[in-house]
Amino acid sequence: MKIPKKNAEDAIRSLSPLINKEFRILQKNGWVYIPVKTPPEGYEVVDVELPARRRATNLKEELRSFLTEDEMKEVVTSFDIVGDVIIIRLPPSLMDKAEKIGEVLHRIHPHVRSVAVEVGPFGGTYRVPELKVVWGDENLETIYREHGVRMKLDPSKVYFSVRHSYERIRIARMIGKDEIVGVFFAGVGPYPLVFAKHSPARWVYAIELNPVAWKYMVENVEMNRMERKIIPIRGDVKDVVPRMFPGFAHRVVMPLPKDSHHFLDEAFMALRREGGIIHYYTFAPSSNPLEKLPLIERKAEEWGFAIKRIEWRRVADYAPRVWKVVLDIYTVSNSSAE
Ligand SMILES: C[S@@+](CC[C@H](N)C(=O)[O-])C[C@H]1O[C@@H](n2cnc3c(N)ncnc32)[C@H](O)[C@@H]1O
Repeated sequence: MKIPKKNAEDAIRSLSPLINKEFRILQKNGWVYIPVKTPPEGYEVVDVELPARRRATNLKEELRSFLTEDEMKEVVTSFDIVGDVIIIRLPPSLMDKAEKIGEVLHRIHPHVRSVAVEVGPFGGTYRVPELKVVWGDENLETIYREHGVRMKLDPSKVYFSVRHSYERIRIARMIGKDEIVGVFFAGVGPYPLVFAKHSPARWVYAIELNPVAWKYMVENVEMNRMERKIIPIRGDVKDVVPRMFPGFAHRVVMPLPKDSHHFLDEAFMALRREGGIIHYYTFAPSSNPLEKLPLIERKAEEWGFAIKRIEWRRVADYAPRVWKVVLDIYTVSNSSAE
């Protein structure tokens, strides 16, 4: 079917059942050529050669040829796409098939440049995973897009998780006009960038210890033109908060679930004396998601705050019967609560 470009969109929508999906639609000199199974009435039909579409491949179908049903489930649910890099978690029993799995993943996601297996867990102070490239380019530096911001990072040198994308926008939507937000443990900047893009915050202070992650954050702030809103600070939360912003923040975000309980003093120290909100990430048994509450209440009191209310949500399953949870802690000054 040959059709003027300006009418193409409507035609594609209304004639969809007649379109032959085995071939690509072509645009040339103001005309659009749409492959059709049968010539529709009232349209000009011409004889041209159109490129064939890649046969739509199905991940499960391809994996089924060399994996058991249980192994397949594991693969299908355990990979993330970070820009043009796929990161996959495999049980040791599947490591000898990693290369083949990498090849299949690349076939299904042809834009992907590398497939890497997470061979060691997120470890050390910087929470960096151990990755092994099983298919494609050894260089894993990539650009990841989320909620309208772009982030450059190398997932083998810094912590990064695409799985917290909802948390970032959830908090961004809570931030009020002219708020000053402190993001502890900021990594390459995903929380600060999404906050700066999607909230009316005045400033976001972003503290990160890993020099490589901090450097990416600085670059990401520039790449997204957020220099007026985000202040990337390289250093340890324990040094930076007392030195640079005690009593500044309307809101503090603490995305370090493994150790956040060691930094509650700094979180309360950073809050404005009249009170504010702390988004506290932690791991907790599914039977007691508010396990850390007594500690939080004690620290709040020590710093002169009363807890007005706490909301919480499960962010992810971490291990059998262990959840990653976030507690939104609303505080007021102790004197105003009396
Ligand atoms: C779980 S990662 C979260 C990174 C980032 N918020 C994200 O979601 O991608 C925790 C980060 O905290 C940093 N970190 C660990 N201890 C720190 C400290 N004492 N002060 C500042 N940053 C720290 C690590 O280097 C790591 O990048």
